[in-house]
Amino acid sequence: MSWIVTGGAGYIGAHVVRALAGAGLDPVIIDDLSSGVASFAPEGVPFVRGSILDRDLVESTLREYRAEGVIHVAGYKYAGVSVQRPLHTYAQNVEGTRVILEAMQAVGVQNIVFSSSAAVFGTPDVPLVVEDTAKRPASPYGESKLIGEWLLRDQAVATADSDAPLRHTSLRYFNVVGSADPTVYDVSPHNLFPIVFEALLDGRTPKIFGDDYATEDGTNVRDYVHVGDIAAAHVAAAQRLAAGEHVEPAYNLGSGDGLSVKQIMDAVARVTGIDFAPEIGPRRPGDPDRIVATGELAARDLDWKMRYSVDEMVRTGWEARRRAS
Ligand SMILES: NC(=O)c1ccc[n+]([C@@H]2O[C@H](COP(=O)([O-])OP(=O)(O)OC[C@H]3O[C@@H](n4cnc5c(N)ncnc54)[C@H](O)[C@@H]3O)[C@@H](O)[C@H]2O)c1
Repeated sequence: MSWIVTGGAGYIGAHVVRALAGAGLDPVIIDDLSSGVASFAPEGVPFVRGSILDRDLVESTLREYRAEGVIHVAGYKYAGVSVQRPLHTYAQNVEGTRVILEAMQAVGVQNIVFSSSAAVFGTPDVPLVVEDTAKRPASPYGESKLIGEWLLRDQAVATADSDAPLRHTSLRYFNVVGSADPTVYDVSPHNLFPIVFEALLDGRTPKIFGDDYATEDGTNVRDYVHVGDIAAAHVAAAQRLAAGEHVEPAYNLGSGDGLSVKQIMDAVARVTGIDFAPEIGPRRPGDPDRIVATGELAARDLDWKMRYSVDEMVRTGWEARRRAS
C-alpha cells in the first residue's frame, strides 16, 4: 500500500514525501513539474510525471501502486496571479481536485489529505483565526482552495453509505518557510523568505512594505511555520485516516503567535551575518495588520507543534537557497 503525493516535486510536497518515507509509509509522486523541480524528488521514490488533470493517469497510478490514500498538495499557489488568471487557477485547483476525487472513487481509495490555505479566510477581522472563523477569500486562489475543501466534504457525504466512504481532512497552511532538507527550498518568486534571500544574494537591500501598521513595531505580523513541522502534520493526518480515527474536516496549521516582518529581517541579519537595514517602502494595497491562527485543534489531533525557532527557519531556508546558487 502506498500514499500518492500530488505535487511531490514541489517545495512542500517534497518535504511531505520525505516525512512519509521516514515514517515507513510508501510515498509515490505525481507531478507535472509545472513549478516543481525534478531533483526535489528523492531517489528511490516512484515518480509519475504527468498532470492531475489527466484522469486516466491518476487512476492508473492509484491502481498500480495500490494507494491507501492521497496527499493532494499539487496546486497553483500565487494569489496575486490568480486575479489575472482565474480560469487557470480554477482548472488547476478545482478541476484538479475533482479529477482526483473521481479517480479515487473509481478505484475505491478512501483517504485524502488536502493542502488548503490561510487564503480561505481573506482578511480576517479577529486577532486569532480559528477553524470556524468566517471564510471570505479575497482572490480566485483563496476561492479555489475553499471550493477544494467543499468538494471533499460533499464527496464524503455522497459516499457515506457506499463500500468506500471518503475520509478526508484539509490542512490550512499559513506562511510556510525554511527547509528540512538542504536540497529542497522554496522557489516562489512571491514569498517573503525567497524574496529576501534573492535580494541578499544579488547584493540588493531587502524592502519592507509599510512600517505604520497597527502592530508593535509597525510592520505586518504573519504566522510563519517551518516546512518540517508542516510535513510532520501530514504524516499524522495520514496515519489517523488510515487507522479510521476521528479527524476534523479542516485544521489551521498556525503557530498561535505571529512574527513581524521586522522580526524576520532582524533574524535574517543575525543568521546570515549580513548587516543590513531594510528599505522602507509604501504599504501594499490590501495587506492587513496581522494574520495569526491558533493551531490548537491540530495540536490535539496531529501532534502539531513548533519545533523550529525563527532563527532555525531562517538558517535552514538560507542554507538550502545558498547551496542551490
Ligand atoms: N507555500 C506556502 O506558503 C503555501 C501556503 C498555503 C498553501 N499552500 C499550498 O500548498 C501546496 C504546495 O505549495 P508549494 O509551496 O509546495 O508550491 P510549489 O509550487 O513548490 O509546489 C506545487 C507542486 O505541484 C505541482 N503541480 C502543479 N500543478 C500540477 C498538476 N496539474 N499536475 C501535477 N502536478 C502539479 C508543481 O509542479 C509543484 O511541484 C499548493 O497547493 C499551495 O496552494 C502553500
